[in-house]
Formats: sequence, C-alpha cells, structure tokens
Amino acid sequence: MKVLVIGSGGREHALIWKLAQSPKVAKVFAAPGNGGIAEMAECLPFNPDKTKELADFAAAQAIDLTVVGPESPLVHGMVDYFEGRGLKIFGPSKAAARLEGSKAFAKEVMQKAGVPTASFQVFREAEAAYRHLDQCRGPVVVKADGLAAGKGVLMADSAEEAKQAVKSILTDRLFGDAGASVVIEERLTGEEVSVLGIVDGETTLLLAPSQDHKRSQDNDEGSNTGGMGAYSPVPWLDAGKLEEIRKRIFEPVTRFMAREGTPFKGVLYAGLMLTDSGPKVLEFNVRFGDPETQAILPRLKTDLFGLLLASAEGKLKGMSLEWDPRACACVVLASQGYPTKYDIGREIGSLTEAADEPGLWIFHAGTKKEGQRLITIGGRVLNVAALGDSLEGALEKVYRAIGKIYFEGMQYRRDIGFRALRNRHPRVSEDQSGRVRFPLSRE
Ligand code: AMP
Ligand code: GLY
Repeated sequence: MKVLVIGSGGREHALIWKLAQSPKVAKVFAAPGNGGIAEMAECLPFNPDKTKELADFAAAQAIDLTVVGPESPLVHGMVDYFEGRGLKIFGPSKAAARLEGSKAFAKEVMQKAGVPTASFQVFREAEAAYRHLDQCRGPVVVKADGLAAGKGVLMADSAEEAKQAVKSILTDRLFGDAGASVVIEERLTGEEVSVLGIVDGETTLLLAPSQDHKRSQDNDEGSNTGGMGAYSPVPWLDAGKLEEIRKRIFEPVTRFMAREGTPFKGVLYAGLMLTDSGPKVLEFNVRFGDPETQAILPRLKTDLFGLLLASAEGKLKGMSLEWDPRACACVVLASQGYPTKYDIGREIGSLTEAADEPGLWIFHAGTKKEGQRLITIGGRVLNVAALGDSLEGALEKVYRAIGKIYFEGMQYRRDIGFRALRNRHPRVSEDQSGRVRFPLSRE
C-alpha cells in the first residue's frame, strides 16, 4: 500500500515513522515533509494548501490512503475534494471540521449534545459583549471564533481586561476574519489533559491520554506556544475515567454530528479540564495533537495504518487498541525567540550520537537538509521522545539525549512532566560543561 502524509511537523514525522512500520505499507510520501521525514519518506514539493495538486498526485500514483496532519486543509475541505474524486483520505469533512474551525459552532454542538463544557455566550457586536461582561462574575476567557494558529484565546482577570480582549478581536481584528465573532466563557480550573479518539462516523477508539505543556517557559510561565512537550499516560486518567470520557463526551458528539448529516471521521481531539465537577471540554481539534502524537505513538502497539484506514472506511467497530504499558515523554527543542519572532538558518550538530539509544527517537519539525547539513527553518525544531519503565526514566533518557544536541539559540523546557511528578520536585540543572542533568531518579 502507498500512503501520502500531508504536513511538515513533529506530528507528521511521528505518524510517518509509525505508518512505515506497518507490514501493509510499502511506500510513504510526504508533502512537504522536513529534514527528518526525508530519511524515511519521499518528500514532495507541495504545501498542504495545494489541494488539487495533492489530489492529482494521489490519483496518478494510486495512493491507497492520504493522511492529513494539520487543521487548515481539513477546515478548508480537503477531505471532501479527495472523496469527490474517489480518493481515500483520513480526516473529517469540511462540515465536521467546523468543530475546530469555529469555536462558536463547537460550543453549540456541545450544548445541544449535552457535553460538559464551560458556560458561554457568543457575540458579534462589541457593545453587547461589554454589557454581558459587566454582568459576569469571576474570571472569563475570551476566544476568537475561527482558526488563529493557537493564539486566539485570551485570559482575562478583570472585566476591563476582558473588554480589551473583545476590542482587539472584534473591533481591531487582531486575528482577521477569525475574529468576526467572539466566545466569552467561564474560566475553568483543574488539570488540563488531551484525549484523542479515532472516529469512523459512529465508533470511537480512544488513544492513550497525554498532557501537553503549552507555555514557553518552565513552571508554565511565558507565552502560549503550539506545545513544548508531552507525556503519556497521565496519572489522573485510569481506564474507568477514560470510559466515562468516551461515554459523556465522544459518543454524544459523534452521535449528534451523524444525526445532523455531517458524521465525524478522523481524529477528534478533546482538550479537557479535569474540574472538581468532572471533565469539561475546553476545545475540540479535528487532527492529531503536536507534540501529543510524539508521546502517544511510541506506546501504540496496534498497526496505525490499519487503524486509520478503518476510520476512513467506517470499519472501527469491533477493533481495539493495544498499548505498551511503559511511559513516553517528549520534549520540544525550539529556536531562540519562539513563539514570537525566532531565528532560523542555524546549523544543527550531528544527531547520530544523541539518537543512538534503544527506545529513543528524534522527530523533526522545523528542519531542512541542505546538502549534508541539517538546518533550522521553524520555531519548533526537534522533538526528543523516549519510552521508559517510569515517567522519570523516560524523562531522564530524553534529557540525557538533549545534552548531546546543539544548535545556536536552542531552548526547551526543563520541567516536562512536572505536574505528574510534582510531589518529587523534579528539576533539572546544567552542570559546568553545559550538560543537562536530570536528578529525578537520584532523589
Ligand atoms: P484553546 O485554543 O481553546 O485550546 O485554548 C488554549 C488554552 O487556553 C487551553 O489549552 C487552556 O489552557 C486555556 N483555556 C481555554 N479555555 C479555557 C477555559 N474555559 N478555562 C480555562 N482555561 C481555558
Ligand atoms: N499541542 C496542542 C495542539 O496540538 O493543539
């Protein structure tokens, strides 16, 4: 079988790494891929928005399954276009991808389907939003309705701050048309976790839960990023709680979408807050998480190709997933300045020694091969992921490998997993040679 994977991040590298292990997969193409993906797939010079060119390629090469990594092509209807041409593709239709493409739509679906989420209201007029804010008690979150590259969510500690957020989104159009409406919602507190399900329109198989670290700096300080590291499993979600999440969140949403004539297929990613009154949905995404995928797939024993094909063909019923019980941790190495203005074009030192350890993988994101050299071309550059008998063991392996990797301005969080390990005060430090020490196992 031939597979085409669309995207160029760490998530796509991990997907391709896993897909290529399938005995059914003979060849993987990537569009456009990156420096690491180029080692295991044939990279094509098409960006993910080139729907027609990608479909032409899939048709000409008789690709058996196309897998879409990022949200934008999904929200813009890539799946509908491929299916219209009789090409098999993994992911939701344009109508179903609105669960990520419009936060107001997602909230409405949750409300109608009875899915637990923060209370909310949607506004198109700033004045009406201000009047609402004057009556709100407690902190709120103000969200641009549409896709805003993960930046459209503003936390407000006072009514004044919330009004400022509304003004920037609705009036000043900080996020362009994505800010034609705002969602104002109650601010929830608790542990945040990512639960992803593979859905075929009817049946949902949950992937192992994970926790991302969105802020750029240790201790959850600094700005929001695409994600600086993740681990799986998470200690607060046992099999019973996951089943409750499947029943209370995934089943009602997929049932609702099917009833509306827009069945959901692909990955449904629920960003959840585990509150005192149970899990509540913060957001839905309609694709694999990045870097969650890099921490989940090394634990998946089931054939990924078979799973994604079954989703595309509506055949998940009766299937189950098998997991490696070990923990997996992934730490993102980013360019100096990320997530705002960052440097690119830095040479990355050899990764061979760092990668030379069983159960450890370096998934590339913003890298490019230039002759023999590997250079940085993005904000998030590399993902170092490892399996360990415990989360501490996995993290120790990851940080040991990071100590052998170098590019100018490289930055990363030294406290990935701290929420799970917090009672043990995990801290890493650098010794005089600049090598990272991860003292957990010696505590
Ligand atoms: P989103 O893009 O909707 O995932 O929001 C980005 C981040 O904002 C989430 O990962 C949460 O950390 C935070 N967030 C979103 N909605 C809420 C909420 N209602 N209460 C508290 N935090 C939230
Ligand atoms: N890591 C967060 C996301 O993929 O949206």
